[in-house]
Amino acid sequence: MSRLEGDVAIVTGAARGIGAAYAKALAAEGATVVVADVLDTAASVDAVKEMGGTAIGISCNVTDNDAVEGMVADTISEFGKIDALVNNAALFANISHKKFEEIPDDEWMSVMQVNIAGVWRVSKAVVPHMRERQYGKIVNVASTTALKGTRLFKGRSIGHDQGDGARSRRG
Ligand SMILES: NC(=O)c1ccc[n+]([C@@H]2O[C@H](COP(=O)([O-])OP(=O)(O)OC[C@H]3O[C@@H](n4cnc5c(N)ncnc54)[C@H](O)[C@@H]3O)[C@@H](O)[C@H]2O)c1
Repeated sequence: MSRLEGDVAIVTGAARGIGAAYAKALAAEGATVVVADVLDTAASVDAVKEMGGTAIGISCNVTDNDAVEGMVADTISEFGKIDALVNNAALFANISHKKFEEIPDDEWMSVMQVNIAGVWRVSKAVVPHMRERQYGKIVNVASTTALKGTRLFKGRSIGHDQGDGARSRRG
């Protein structure tokens, strides 16, 4: 028997990229998967079904409380429960590397809304259900980039961020 047989898992940002890979991997272990994304989820849902798995797509913007609560309610109504949530949705691949001081306010705020507040918002919506069932697992996706930094990427020290030969004193 597969390890996740009978389990229901929501993966946010699963229409493409790593989220779509998580959806397929969860399905390969027997889980029923809810692919939640602002993008069209059809390709990712079809990929799960082609492997013989069960998946549905739900349009959901993790910055919108009503959309998030609706997605959680639809999942419970369709499958009766939520065993796992993977908070994967993020503004990531579409963000271009740039100097720290060139990051526009609206880009910074959008990243905070999706990558930080989105994790909190979706977790907040599933926790009452998980608490009631006394069961549930939440996985928050992050990156080691936050710990070590990458040239011209958020989190790197300002000295390293210049990209024009400027360096912090400590190198
Ligand atoms: N790609 C990498 O090298 C890498 C490395 C380390 C960590 N990560 C992390 O993995 C995760 C996925 O990265 P990826 O490379 O697949 O990124 P990606 O940009 O390809 O995919 C992100 C997904 O999130 C969705 N999304 C964006 N905003 C959303 C919103 N408001 N509501 C719902 N869905 C939204 C997008 O539509 C997309 O499907 C991110 O959390 C990222 O930080 C990626």
